[in-house]
Amino acid sequence: MIELNLKNVNFEQEVIEFDKAKIESIHNLIINKSGKGSDFLGWYEWPNNFDKKEYNLMKEKAEELRNEIEVLLVVGIGGSYLGTRAADNMIRGLFTKDKVELIYIGNTISSSYIKQVLDYVDDKEFAIANISKSGTTTEPGISFRVFQNKLVEKKGKEIAQKRIVAITDKSKGALKKLATIEGYTTFTIPDDIGGRFSVFTPVGIFPLLVAGIDTDLLFKGSQKAYKDLESLDNSAYKYAITRYLLNVEYNYKTEVLVSYELQMQMFTEWWKQLFGESEGKDNKGLLPSSCVFSTDLHSLGQFIQDGTKNVLFETVIDIKKPQFDINVPVVKEDLDGLNYLTNNSFHEINHIALEGVIEAHVNTGMVPNIVLEFEKMDAEMFGYAIYWFMRACAFSGYLLEINPFDQPGVEVYKKNMFKLLKKPGF
Ligand code: PA5
Repeated sequence: MIELNLKNVNFEQEVIEFDKAKIESIHNLIINKSGKGSDFLGWYEWPNNFDKKEYNLMKEKAEELRNEIEVLLVVGIGGSYLGTRAADNMIRGLFTKDKVELIYIGNTISSSYIKQVLDYVDDKEFAIANISKSGTTTEPGISFRVFQNKLVEKKGKEIAQKRIVAITDKSKGALKKLATIEGYTTFTIPDDIGGRFSVFTPVGIFPLLVAGIDTDLLFKGSQKAYKDLESLDNSAYKYAITRYLLNVEYNYKTEVLVSYELQMQMFTEWWKQLFGESEGKDNKGLLPSSCVFSTDLHSLGQFIQDGTKNVLFETVIDIKKPQFDINVPVVKEDLDGLNYLTNNSFHEINHIALEGVIEAHVNTGMVPNIVLEFEKMDAEMFGYAIYWFMRACAFSGYLLEINPFDQPGVEVYKKNMFKLLKKPGF
């Protein structure tokens, strides 16, 4: 479901000839859970061994809510929301006609945004999925309070209790405690799966079920990727090796993930967190950045083509089959001279743009381009791509000899903020 095309990176042979023993030893670190941070490799087997009983309970609760609500507020930050939002946009598109809309809170402390959401849900039937593994993250914690109050005020305590679902640790943390006291339905984030690797756990699956997304198909995609990555000679490892060589051997500092579909923008945000938080440590790692073309061809495109050399390379997602395609209408006068385009559909033009841009960036701009051909944009493809990138990321982290599963740097801002806010103990 993902084809890796390296013809626009001029050292494909080096990737093919990369140290086989090293590939095998890193592969073994992943599958035997014996590398750095191995306590957090639970996601590796998850597509096959996820908790089927809990999955059925989630389906039942999601159906109950789907019959009652118009909006599900997804409370969470980082790995507790990015994957859900990436799936929501990639699979349902940006203007869903489904009866349940997902709105994301808890990833910002912007009072203006929170007030806008409060006003928006004022006349709507809504429920809340409060998602936090630690249960102590400030941003979702304080946002939850606001919307919990709003729901109780609107519907009363009894209905609010049924409309709030907590997704958190199985036994510890503030959210687990709160959910037990309040009697909220609770689903579990496994101990051995960290936030940015948690899309296939209740973190992503529960809200996506409420959104009416076919999560069976999503799991099918992840299982397919799992199978495809059993061999050592796989495209995810080759992608990791290519970006490693670009970074370490050829001194590139930034990887720009490019898509030609606006509904893939949140997918690129999820990817930025995955690689940024996993690799950006010990003074190592590529800076993950993203663009959506054509939009950004008229902004960052200039820098990519003509700006400082040797800082960035692109990884281009080439979607083969769009969800919809439309034709360019023929007009009689042809005043804008665009009738010549009416032989092609929008998707064909988009694809020709992709080919033209790659040629310009590679041949004139001297920017290496990795191309990832995605078969389509649906739940199966989402499941496949997410698992594929997670495996590439784990492999890549071990190539850099870092722990891909922790995020010590994130704590620094929290400590400063707590000190300034006079949190007891800081
Ligand atoms: O990848 C990670 O582990 C982080 O991005 C966390 O998901 C994020 O910090 C949210 O943490 P929590 O789910 O504990 O609120």
